Amino acid sequence: MRNFQLTRRAVFAGMGASALTARAGGAATAPTLLTAQVAKAQIAPEGYPQTEVWSYDGTLPGPQLRVAQGVRLQRRFVNKLDVPSSVHWHGIRIDNAMDGVAGLTQDAVPPGQTFDYDFRVPDAGTYWYHAHTKSMEQVARGLSGALIVEEPEAPDVDRDEVLLLDDWLLDPDTAQLEPDFTHPMDLSHGGRFGNLVGTNGHYALTLTAKRHERLRLRLINAANARIFVLRLTGLSGWQVALDGMPLPAPEAIPEELVLAPAQRVDLIVDVTSDGAEAAIERLNNDQQWQRQVGFAISGEASRTRRDPPAALPPNPNMAPPDLTQARPLEMKIEGGAMGRMSRNRMQALMQSGNFWTLAGQAGIGDTPFAKLSQGEPVRLRFVNDTAFPHAMHLHGMHFRELREDGSLGPMRDTVLTIPGRSHEIAFTADNPGKWLLHCHMLAHAAAGMTSWIEVA
Ligand code: C2O
Ligand code: CU
Repeated sequence: MRNFQLTRRAVFAGMGASALTARAGGAATAPTLLTAQVAKAQIAPEGYPQTEVWSYDGTLPGPQLRVAQGVRLQRRFVNKLDVPSSVHWHGIRIDNAMDGVAGLTQDAVPPGQTFDYDFRVPDAGTYWYHAHTKSMEQVARGLSGALIVEEPEAPDVDRDEVLLLDDWLLDPDTAQLEPDFTHPMDLSHGGRFGNLVGTNGHYALTLTAKRHERLRLRLINAANARIFVLRLTGLSGWQVALDGMPLPAPEAIPEELVLAPAQRVDLIVDVTSDGAEAAIERLNNDQQWQRQVGFAISGEASRTRRDPPAALPPNPNMAPPDLTQARPLEMKIEGGAMGRMSRNRMQALMQSGNFWTLAGQAGIGDTPFAKLSQGEPVRLRFVNDTAFPHAMHLHGMHFRELREDGSLGPMRDTVLTIPGRSHEIAFTADNPGKWLLHCHMLAHAAAGMTSWIEVA
């Protein structure tokens, strides 16, 4: 595959996504729409044609939805594509019927039809929404956007920026999306990677900033398969939330920030650069640091740095699961290229169009991986017996990762599992319904790595 040669660094102004605020209360007004439709977007550098994408409301990414914690979010999804689709509200501890998973919690919405999403958002934080019908193709074509649930009292920052990181696999001549979404190479290896990496729908995003300005940066990895390894230059600060959920106290930002597909991190940073620039950089395929988001600095927000920020207020129901009572479960992840699955099993698997299994099964099947009673504490061990990392995501409930010493890590909804290692999570099964449990490398999910649990 030919690579995009980006010979110059164009500077784009910050992209102003429209902020749609949900109305509180249930006044009888026309429904607010969220429309899936074909659109064009200038993803590639100037001089390249626009790219035809599938979008929400005609923008790439979709409109930034911003609502207050605890309100009902209502959107009439209108499908103007010529394929069925549905919307998943990633990370929201949602009413199961609104989870948007075609084939499990609802039927896919046929072309020309609508579906009314209506749910409460119990937790403040950084979430996102994306298609959950043939996700590998539909998300890669552009069907995703940020969903921000605001704390009743916003933390003391000068600005709040949402940075949705993504990549696109484009034909280097025409800048159109490579239309093969079922390539066996993608399905059996690391997934579909783009050859153009960018932020908020642009290959190069530069924001303006002032010295000593304090920014809340909400990073969302919306890519199909890419694990972002990031570092900050000229910005210093703290991470304050992971996957939407506030950390008990602000923590130093790791020197290399790893963001697996679907994961989010909220940072509060001060612009500390002495020069005219600051940046978020990513490690590229050649192990070089490359600019992901630039900040052009002019002016001064204050003379000196401020005091460290307070922790974000906790969300409801963040009590840790009772490990002494927890039911132990194990999910072995097997398959893929260069794995240890026997040739016979792999051949049988490939005949069913799959490359991967979770707990020995490819795809969701008729019965859940586990039936849990409501309120039951669970520990679930993922054993990654493959040659690839996998970002395992549980719908409907956040979990705690268990550290190697047995202590509870932060609350998350997606955990990155490393080849040859096992990772244990724990949660209380307090949200009734049928919840998907799958790899968020969407090619893997399409090729077998999709399972589910039932809470009743
Ligand atoms: Cu964002 Cu089923 O996932
Ligand atoms: Cu995977």
